[in-house]
Amino acid sequence: MTEQIDVIVIGAGAAGLMCAATAAGRGRRVVVLDHARKPGRKILMSGGGRCNFTHLHSGPEHFLSANPRFCISALRRYPPAAFLELVERHGVAYEEREPGRLFCRESARPILDLLLSEGRQAGVELRMGTGVRSVQATAEGFAVATPTGTLHAEALVVATGGLSIPRMGASGLGYAIARQFGLPVQPTRPALVPLTLPEHLRRPIGDLAGISVPVRVRCAEAEFSDDLLITHHGLSGPAALQASSYWQPEVPLSLDWLPGVALHDELAEARRRRSKRALHRCLEAHLPRRLARVLCDLEGWSGPLQGFSNRGLEAVAQRLQEWRLTPAGTAGYAKAEVTAGGVDTDALSSRTLEAREVPGLHFVGEVVDVTGQLGGHNFQWAWSSGVAVGQAI
Ligand code: FDA
Repeated sequence: MTEQIDVIVIGAGAAGLMCAATAAGRGRRVVVLDHARKPGRKILMSGGGRCNFTHLHSGPEHFLSANPRFCISALRRYPPAAFLELVERHGVAYEEREPGRLFCRESARPILDLLLSEGRQAGVELRMGTGVRSVQATAEGFAVATPTGTLHAEALVVATGGLSIPRMGASGLGYAIARQFGLPVQPTRPALVPLTLPEHLRRPIGDLAGISVPVRVRCAEAEFSDDLLITHHGLSGPAALQASSYWQPEVPLSLDWLPGVALHDELAEARRRRSKRALHRCLEAHLPRRLARVLCDLEGWSGPLQGFSNRGLEAVAQRLQEWRLTPAGTAGYAKAEVTAGGVDTDALSSRTLEAREVPGLHFVGEVVDVTGQLGGHNFQWAWSSGVAVGQAI
């Protein structure tokens, strides 16, 4: 069976659904193909089931990309306030958890329902459980072969997301289509992902699983102050996830276990007043007891404070506030919230996300080399890029 329509969207995730509803709202006949049985599964599992659907202050500084300015055009034309207006129009209950981070109050479901309802009203046709066999350029546009027939359209939108969480339908199809049409792809890697510990720290640190502490973590040019969660396998929690997006193998992270504490002054004062006190007992004012103990053991610090010279206390403070840790790796795509890298933005128009050399071929959402930090930025990119393309095709 052969069908002629206006727009084929591959991928019924956040970006594909937003793009399809926008294009259909302009009168285009749109079919969305997805090999998964249900649309928007990542939306439902996001934000711990409450979907952190945007960040009010989302801007280019919250995104990683070979071209950090690429996202500006789409974000400006469809900013967080525009998506919030849609959320409010649909009566979705939401709350601001940390400054700027908006979550659904009850569950993520209303965000998916909102997208499906916008699409339905505009006439979008969703074909779930429909894999893509091949994509070809034709004289009029593109032909996409599926097990049930071939679709022809002037415009093809690739909204297949990244490689994270393969059991949710992730695949490399979007990158393969980019390469087929000669577009470069920036190397991909798991991001917003737990970090694993090197062998020598696996027991001592891993045994502290469950402990969560506020830290400041620096990785390459990025710095985050947030909670670090120790797990049996390594480091998680927002601080580790944020740092992971910037981490490169074999490069150490710098961890400040006591952010904002004038540690050297405190230790010197403690030595003056209670010289027989053990160092780890002093650290317990700021750190969980077991963690303070393990850090002191790892560094070989024992005995009372009176045994430490001024230089010694300075070294302790410096070590604990610039603790260098080289992760063994990451927990991989199976645990990553997103995939960094992707279709090279140099090959795309920032206004329409159309391939410069292939008229009618567009890429939206996570498949593009634009990766948000934790906090709702990734969904905002899905909405903004989806609308940018939906308005252009
Ligand atoms: P997405 O991955 O959502 O959709 C791609 C679609 O393409 C899928 O439906 C897939 O089945 C389909 N597809 C793939 N290959 C195909 C093929 N070969 N043939 C046909 N169809 C194919 N972000 C955020 O801002 N706030 C948050 O709270 C969270 N929380 C969160 C939690 C967890 C556990 C994860 C894994 C991720 C998040 N994220 C997040 C990230 C966010 O979910 C992600 O950035 C967006 O879903 C990306 O939207 P896309 O539409 O680009 O891809």
